[in-house]
Amino acid sequence: MTAEPLEVYLEERDLERGLRDDVRAGLSAEQKWLPPKWFYDARGSELFEEITRLPEYYPTRAERAVLAERAPDIAALTEAKTLIELGSGSSEKTRLLLDAFTRRGGLGTFVPLDVSVSALRGSTAQIAADYPGLRVRGIVGDFTRQLDRLPTGGRRLVVFLGGTIGNLLPAERAEFLTAMRAALEVGDWLLLGTDLVKDPSVIVPAYDDAAGVTAEFNRNVLQVINRELGADFDPGAFDHVALWDPEHEWIEMRLRATRPMRVRVLGMTVDFAAGEDLRTEVSAKFHREGIAAELAAAGFVTAEFWTDPDGLFGVTLARAR
Ligand code: AVJ
Repeated sequence: MTAEPLEVYLEERDLERGLRDDVRAGLSAEQKWLPPKWFYDARGSELFEEITRLPEYYPTRAERAVLAERAPDIAALTEAKTLIELGSGSSEKTRLLLDAFTRRGGLGTFVPLDVSVSALRGSTAQIAADYPGLRVRGIVGDFTRQLDRLPTGGRRLVVFLGGTIGNLLPAERAEFLTAMRAALEVGDWLLLGTDLVKDPSVIVPAYDDAAGVTAEFNRNVLQVINRELGADFDPGAFDHVALWDPEHEWIEMRLRATRPMRVRVLGMTVDFAAGEDLRTEVSAKFHREGIAAELAAAGFVTAEFWTDPDGLFGVTLARAR
């Protein structure tokens, strides 16, 4: 089958407004910050795909190992009719699930949701071509905002992979999981990928690779702001920094000004002191008990928790109660 036309709930102008609001708020704050979602223009998405193939970046491989082993269990346990993927990107790992559901029969519809039109165009066309008989409905949307637009009816499985939930701060996470639960019916399922707490000597290199791909990915957000908002950042004048925060158990990416700088954006003058940081990402790491507790607080019961053989990455299957 060919994919259905994309359903667009997030227009170009919504995205632009979101970027403007975030840049205005983040760059005028005492501790400068930007939300990580602005990394993913076409170039940033490409760089992220490259990151997933780096020797230091274990989460993608570890999660894929779990899915490769457990996809048949996931299909059998959930008996889902509709598979919804949040922040689907290229949907590469999701194929492991689609394969298992196809072997079993019963899955009717695949609904990838992503902010990136270009990523969705590619993935929906490919998946529709590769899974004949599967209805493919791509949704252009923001997974923190468009949860009320998810298709209803029939048992649903929502998958949120890659550890992307770690990009949300704890309060945002609670809000997101609660909204997720509200969008589901009792008995619907959630499959959640989370990177696990481990020695920082393993985590830090995953966010500061030897080849410098993550550094380029990090600096790319400044190119996005230059292009979209006409700012005059000099990306080359910022160092890439990856910092483990042992108290919050998250890793931060920052861009550190190598010299004093004055940047013009949106009519604002933004001054950086030499050595001043702009925080561009928080990527939280989790413990098994913490994930179960956060899910329980939002109205989910954990049915299964699996890790890869090295215990690096966790995948939780939970059910709305
Ligand atoms: C796609 C959000 C899961 O936090 O590990 C990769 C993004 N940042 N390298 C992560 C990312 C730096 C990634 N997520």
